[in-house]
Amino acid sequence: MPQDASAHTHAPTGALTGAPALSMAERADALEERMMHELEHIVARSVFSNLADGKAEMEGGMELLARNPGKYMLMGPDPRLPRMPEKPTLADYFRCRFASTSHLLQSATHALKGGHSEKVIMACLLHDIGVVSFIRCDHGYWGAQMIEPYVEEEVAWAVRMHQALRFFPDESVGYTYPEMYVKLFGPDYEPEPYIVAEYERARNHKWYMTSRLITLNDVYSFDPNAKVNLDDFVDIIGRNFKQPKEGLGWDDSPSAHMWRTIMWPSRFL
Ligand SMILES: [Fe+2]
Ligand SMILES: [Fe+2]
Repeated sequence: MPQDASAHTHAPTGALTGAPALSMAERADALEERMMHELEHIVARSVFSNLADGKAEMEGGMELLARNPGKYMLMGPDPRLPRMPEKPTLADYFRCRFASTSHLLQSATHALKGGHSEKVIMACLLHDIGVVSFIRCDHGYWGAQMIEPYVEEEVAWAVRMHQALRFFPDESVGYTYPEMYVKLFGPDYEPEPYIVAEYERARNHKWYMTSRLITLNDVYSFDPNAKVNLDDFVDIIGRNFKQPKEGLGWDDSPSAHMWRTIMWPSRFL
């Protein structure tokens, strides 16, 4: 039986059609679908973003083409995101891609005021870039990998190891298990064996204190009213981050693809 096309396409909810009203999730999907149609290119979701929604799924290219006649897949910048310069710098990622920078800047400001070395300040400034640009799970490892080709080995090492060290107290520097973690993870949470093993390796390492200082400057750095500015760190970044001349993401370092993915997260392939 032919359907009434106008009622089918234009009625936003079930009120006019007699169909059941859409749930929140269905409405979000419908909005996403509409936005995709309004874009010049087809934006596909990566499996990873579906996994984070609890679905091990992906939509095939040909399927997407069939649903969007006359359009091609997005193979460049996503027009919904802030446009990045042709040769992006670390500061451009701070401004255009990082979802939140205050915690990083507060941590680095504590380290600066505490009179720590530029290596420690850099490590604090970058310690959570994995979280703010990319992924929460194992963020210390992801963040360290992103910066490894561009900073002193010690800085990347410290960022990697803060993943484990933050769960373990060190009374010699006044670091206790964060109260916030009891609230976030519950009183019974215990770090997994790979984290415990990593902590034990880090504890006797020559750079232990660099990573420990990240955790020390970290827990105090969630003040919503703190006044911080990336401009205060431009010189330190200049001296401690090897900005590639091609632009961060367009160079041939082992982690350039990670920066490119953050720059163009919805590129089809
Ligand atoms: Fe962290
Ligand atoms: Fe942090």
